[in-house]
Amino acid sequence: MQPDSSFDNALAALQDCLGRQGNFVVLTGAGVSKESGIPTFRDAQTGLWANYRAEDLATREGFLNNPQMVWDWYDFRRNKVWDAQPNPGHVALAKMEVLFSRFTLITQNIDNLHQRAGSKQVLELHGNIFRYKCLEQNHPVSLDLLENPDASPPTCPVCNSYVRPDVVWFGEMLPEIILSQAFDAASSADVMLIAGTSGVVQPAASIPAAAKEAGATVFEINPEMSALTSFMVDYFLQGTSGTILHQLLTALQANPRVKTL
Ligand code: APR
Repeated sequence: MQPDSSFDNALAALQDCLGRQGNFVVLTGAGVSKESGIPTFRDAQTGLWANYRAEDLATREGFLNNPQMVWDWYDFRRNKVWDAQPNPGHVALAKMEVLFSRFTLITQNIDNLHQRAGSKQVLELHGNIFRYKCLEQNHPVSLDLLENPDASPPTCPVCNSYVRPDVVWFGEMLPEIILSQAFDAASSADVMLIAGTSGVVQPAASIPAAAKEAGATVFEINPEMSALTSFMVDYFLQGTSGTILHQLLTALQANPRVKTL
């Protein structure tokens, strides 16, 4: 199927959803944070980190083999994210949340930039690099309350296992409740908007299919076609999410129908 790439047609379909108070569901990926300068996992593997394999840095086995190295890797990435700022794409999505009466933002990103831009309800499929839990029992951990917060890694005050970032490592299950909320939202979506994801990492990549099967109109924003574009996307807006989401928001806000809702 060849998606429609007209901005005006896509806008009209979104305005229709807005006017009908339809259910708007968004799935974002690493591309949405690109304009904030956040390197992808692989892009971040430079310098000191260039010679490590992903299996060494982002798996349970890698952590057990060398807890300090994995802890330091996440400290390094956390600092990069902390120094970054939300970009116009993040801001536009936060403003769309206010515009649409039914709105769900699902993200594969762990960088917290959607929340920093003002998004209130974010389903984080892969966790959040600023949260911590313990390795063995998933106890949530706040570093501020630990006696040894500077250890790398510290240990859990409840069960004494190592503290780790609350992110999904390779080979791990996604948080069950979040995943089921994401699929529930997709299954009742009128509009599914995919932005900045290659659509190859499962199970996130199946969320748009759930929306499509339920009859949603699927929009995609990406500078390049993704694995999803040609077989489920109705409107493909080629470009960066910072630019296109901002343009869509501006046009939606100018829609007089919005003011009558
Ligand atoms: N705006 C929108 N999209 C962009 C931009 C941009 N400025 N720049 C790049 N992209 C697109 C790329 O064309 C690509 O399709 O973003 C996508 C990024 O793809 P991936 O790096 O595969 O990211 P993602 O789909 O989020 O990967 C899922 O894989 O590595 C794991 O846990 C990690 O969450 C990540 C998951």
